[in-house]
Amino acid sequence: MKKITLLSILFLSLSSFSIFKPSNRSLLSIKKTKYFLQEDENIQKGKQIFIKNQCTLCHKEKTEGLAPALSVINSFYKGDKDKLIKFLKRESDPIVMPESFGIMAANLFKTKRMSDEDLNALASYMLSIK
Ligand code: HEC
Repeated sequence: MKKITLLSILFLSLSSFSIFKPSNRSLLSIKKTKYFLQEDENIQKGKQIFIKNQCTLCHKEKTEGLAPALSVINSFYKGDKDKLIKFLKRESDPIVMPESFGIMAANLFKTKRMSDEDLNALASYMLSIK
């Protein structure tokens, strides 16, 4: 009798595993997909802000223009969004080409006035260029 109970407990726990595991996983992947979609929208929004504010006059995505390319900026900020937002709010010093900061400084008047939401999108876009 004991053996049967033990066996049925074992069977039940095994079957519940196989029932719940796949559904858990698909729930997780739905959440992940939603997250990536949201992040993708955020990046697209940031790109529009970047273009609208004429950052593209000096910054190209991957090639050196009048200013460091976004991929170069990213190599300094290493994906640290908070740190980049701090710079855009003029709360931290330049680290990429401090000697040319004079050319960049005027643009921070624009970014300083942006909402946290816009700054978040802008930084997401800038850091998405590897
Ligand atoms: C007139 C040209 C020019 C425009 C327009 C411009 N930048 Fe820059 N930017 C520069 C130069 C030059 C540097 C390099 C100096 C430096 O590192 O601060 C720079 C550097 C940066 C950096 C790296 C800061 C660091 O830590 O050194 C960021 C981030 C940045 N720009 C963001 C922007 C954004 C966002 C815009 C649009 C709102 C913008 N830039 C518009 C010229 C420009």
